[in-house]
Amino acid sequence: MDRRIFIRVTGAGAIVAASASLTGCGQAMPADAIAAWQGPGAEPDVRRWILGYAILAPHSHNLQSWRVNLDAQDEIVLHCDLSRLLPETDPFSRQIMMSHGTFLELLDIAARERGLRAEITLFPDGAFGPKTLDERPVARIRLTPDPTVAKDPLFAQILARRTNRSLYNVARPVPAAAWTAMADAARPSPLRTTSLQANALRFGYANASVGDLLSRHRAIAAEAWRIELTTPRTVMESYRVLRVGADEISQHRDGLSILDPMVMMLNRVGLFDRSKAPAPDYYASTSQIEDFDKKLASTPAFLWLVTEGNDRATQVEAGRAYARVQLAATAHGVAMQPLQQALQEYPEQTRPYADIRQLLGAPQPTSTVQMWARVGFAPPVGPAPRRGVAAQLARA
Ligand SMILES: Cc1cc2nc3c(=O)[nH]c(=O)nc-3n(C[C@H](O)[C@H](O)[C@H](O)COP(=O)(O)O)c2cc1C
Repeated sequence: MDRRIFIRVTGAGAIVAASASLTGCGQAMPADAIAAWQGPGAEPDVRRWILGYAILAPHSHNLQSWRVNLDAQDEIVLHCDLSRLLPETDPFSRQIMMSHGTFLELLDIAARERGLRAEITLFPDGAFGPKTLDERPVARIRLTPDPTVAKDPLFAQILARRTNRSLYNVARPVPAAAWTAMADAARPSPLRTTSLQANALRFGYANASVGDLLSRHRAIAAEAWRIELTTPRTVMESYRVLRVGADEISQHRDGLSILDPMVMMLNRVGLFDRSKAPAPDYYASTSQIEDFDKKLASTPAFLWLVTEGNDRATQVEAGRAYARVQLAATAHGVAMQPLQQALQEYPEQTRPYADIRQLLGAPQPTSTVQMWARVGFAPPVGPAPRRGVAAQLARA
């Protein structure tokens, strides 16, 4: 379609439609935004070297809310940057805590690589309550040299791990060996102690061999996505962390990157108004919903992590497990994208929230579905931006 007609017909709505791919194929990702994916190289300070891997952890909306203090020798203190929360879609910061778990898991794996035991004390000054976070530390990590510490083979996957939001190959099943590796990875690492009770975290998956289960997964995910895209305040929360084009991506090195040429062009000419959510029946919303339906239809399998209980330590442990599961999948070339919408605790999601719990046999209030993800094979995607270790260090 002629570009002018396209703009006239769809207006600013087209922008978000194109953004569905998040990192489109137009402009290249700026090198400075992804420099962290080279790894810490010959970094002489071992704590910064370890952090060079930890900051590559997955984080909801790529917010990188890790604030790190290195004041005490041989210690790393992790706080949450309270300016990097998602109050609309993650009202109790459950996903933020999971995203601290992913960071701690990669930190632990990287420490082992250097022959260091990372003694991780969660919430040393007391755990946050169920609703809000505060300035108290999430974890204090003491690093001690220990010749008996075992290296973790998942270390080799840290630089290769990606969240992959592409179409998957529905005809290519995830092999049994990959499922076994992911299930094993979901168990707390045998290399460390855990604050979780045995069997407090359950890994499960559904693939084409299980009747019409996949269509039920797809239907719940589609409905939850529709709700998120048509609820103005949740759309706005994503808009606030959209980074459109190389300049914005370089400037922030966080959030959701858009490099689609059409979106960038409309943004340049002032037609992408990020100050208000598009109407639900606009092309911006409807095309994204259609696009996501296609992605769900292309998905050959789903996985989940369910915990008994949902206190802060359990959320962190669920994040640690998710990081390990994704690294194990990466080793088998298996792609993954979390689907948190139906798991989110805001009122509009009440129905999908109940549906997914019922489907996964996770009744309230005893269990919580911490992670639900689409799984399959897809063409590789590039890495997401990172702010770099220096930006994560807390100023004294
Ligand atoms: C707790 C948690 C929830 C997430 N939820 C979603 C989600 O619902 N949809 C999605 O596409 N990605 C989701 N992600 C993936 C992040 O967006 C991703 O980690 C981030 O953009 C950085 O990209 P990377 O994983 O490729 O490094 C989630 C990640 C975590 C840790």
